[in-house]
Amino acid sequence: MCGIAAYIGQKNAYPIIIEALKRLEYRGYDSAGIVLYDGKNTKIYKEAGAISCLEKSMDQKNPIGKIGIGHTRWATHGVANTINAHPHHSQNKRLTLVHNGTVLNHHLLRESLLADDFHFYGETDSEILVNFLANQQAKENLSLLDTILQHSLKLEGRSVFVVHDLEDPNKIIACNLGGDLFIGKGKDKQILACSDKNALAGYVDQVTSLAPGTLAIIDADCQIFDLNSKLKLKPEWKKLKLNAESLEKGAYPHFMLKEIFEQEEAISKTIEHLSKSSNYKLEKMLEPYRRTITRLRKITIIACGTSWHAGLVAKHFFNELADLPVYCEYASEFMPTDVGAGDLVIAISQSGSTADTLQAVQSAKDIGAVIISICNVEGSAITNLADVSLLTKAGPEIGVASTKAFTTQLTALFLIASQCGEWRGYLSPNRKKSLWKELKNIPLKINEVLRNNPKIAELAKKYQSANNFLYLGRGTGFPIAMEGALKLKEVSYIHAEGLSAGEMKHGSIALIDKNMPSLFIATEDEHYDKIINNLLEIKARNGKIIAITDSLDTQIKKEADDVIVIPSCSPLLYPFLTVIPLQLFAYHVALLRGTNIDKPRNLAKSVTVE
Ligand code: F6R
Repeated sequence: MCGIAAYIGQKNAYPIIIEALKRLEYRGYDSAGIVLYDGKNTKIYKEAGAISCLEKSMDQKNPIGKIGIGHTRWATHGVANTINAHPHHSQNKRLTLVHNGTVLNHHLLRESLLADDFHFYGETDSEILVNFLANQQAKENLSLLDTILQHSLKLEGRSVFVVHDLEDPNKIIACNLGGDLFIGKGKDKQILACSDKNALAGYVDQVTSLAPGTLAIIDADCQIFDLNSKLKLKPEWKKLKLNAESLEKGAYPHFMLKEIFEQEEAISKTIEHLSKSSNYKLEKMLEPYRRTITRLRKITIIACGTSWHAGLVAKHFFNELADLPVYCEYASEFMPTDVGAGDLVIAISQSGSTADTLQAVQSAKDIGAVIISICNVEGSAITNLADVSLLTKAGPEIGVASTKAFTTQLTALFLIASQCGEWRGYLSPNRKKSLWKELKNIPLKINEVLRNNPKIAELAKKYQSANNFLYLGRGTGFPIAMEGALKLKEVSYIHAEGLSAGEMKHGSIALIDKNMPSLFIATEDEHYDKIINNLLEIKARNGKIIAITDSLDTQIKKEADDVIVIPSCSPLLYPFLTVIPLQLFAYHVALLRGTNIDKPRNLAKSVTVE
């Protein structure tokens, strides 16, 4: 949610920042802006709309400056127009700032600024923030560094802001109050700081993540300070491993389709990373908590959206593989009574920067819970917060609708659950071994499912004009039904509801008529016969049915209007296969409806506000 890119070096900053912003556009795409310092003055350029609108508006201008800060916005406070777009300048025009996140106490700050004769041109909390800093700076005659060191902890809420001071113009200061910012160093003392590490690829060779509670002076020396102790910290520079090609669509028309097709590889890499590589081997990472795990009576999972659906699937993994009940909570609904000291919390987040998840995890940590994070972004805020940080190896996920991140989260969760099962004496080492072997075969089976792509494209044509869909499943099929419905809503803007097929008859069945198609997850597991009953209940009310099944049974083929056949596997592994046709279906319907598939309206990939 909102992307920041700041550059300082010997080159013209504009083309570098605009390219970095394009890579960050998935974080927000309703307006964009850049400030450039040309050695004398700062100049702000802003436009409502996508980054291409800003770029177009720059055609006739001559943007010059070797220091600059850019921003792509997802509106929180104030509509998406040019005035509210970032960067924002202070009333005295000395400071220019971009901001990602929210200042929760902005009302109080606004009132005190009004009392000090400040006026505001827009509606954002970010404009309040830049004036708050300018006011403190002027009142106490402080440098920007001292202003931020002394006053930033008065700002409530999670945010990251980056500021330029015209009176100390050869540096930029970045402050992290609970989000993500990665700083990269390249050749010739070039520094590029971005909200996402991927945006640095091709420009820098070394990277460090600016941890929450710290600030960085972005210049050739790149000093980092702790906001609490005010002490200087030693940054940990790592080699940036990403290459710029992994951020391109290649031959695919959309990132979403590319990422759906990358799932085979992403799952294999995640298995390899967590089960083989010596440094990150799951057993080694979890070993310090082995005693805790053997004594556990429950696990709490905290996540949002698609990651929450992965948590709901994991409920079945832990139940069946480790005899452990799981309580899977929406991060935004987390209550401190959900966990106690010594409990195990698994936090799932693709981005690692979802504000709701970070907030809930912080509360659980404060209570004394052990936190395991499952995350796709190394160095993100959640990995800094967790006791054990397990990384999925999905690679950059750029399409706003999550696909490969989901199946790699399932992979990590399956491995953790079976490891816990072994340590708890519930699963023999041999059984664990054979389960892991089956998991390793899943990518091949996904390949088979993907061969249904042309057929699913045809089905999308048949059903694209429906205005409502039901997605129904039982057992692990229920969270997959919810995930399928979410995908359709996100990219095609069609209303869809994912329900437990058993629960459907307790009310939602009233919706069924010939215009309301239902997608059934009807795999050959213990729920199969009941699912067929539910399917017949829909059919009896003239509802249209698409079934996803591995069954060779002729009845389902007779009763359903359309059937997508997937290969068989162990019942616990079905979610890896059943979700794929649903992702493809959402993609093809969206394609036919002409929506902005990779950047659907109103959404942003990384939701950094609560
Ligand atoms: C849906 C989607 C969202 C995210 C949710 C949590 O396609 O991407 O529902 O899953 O916003 O994001 P992370 O996993 O980054 O915490």
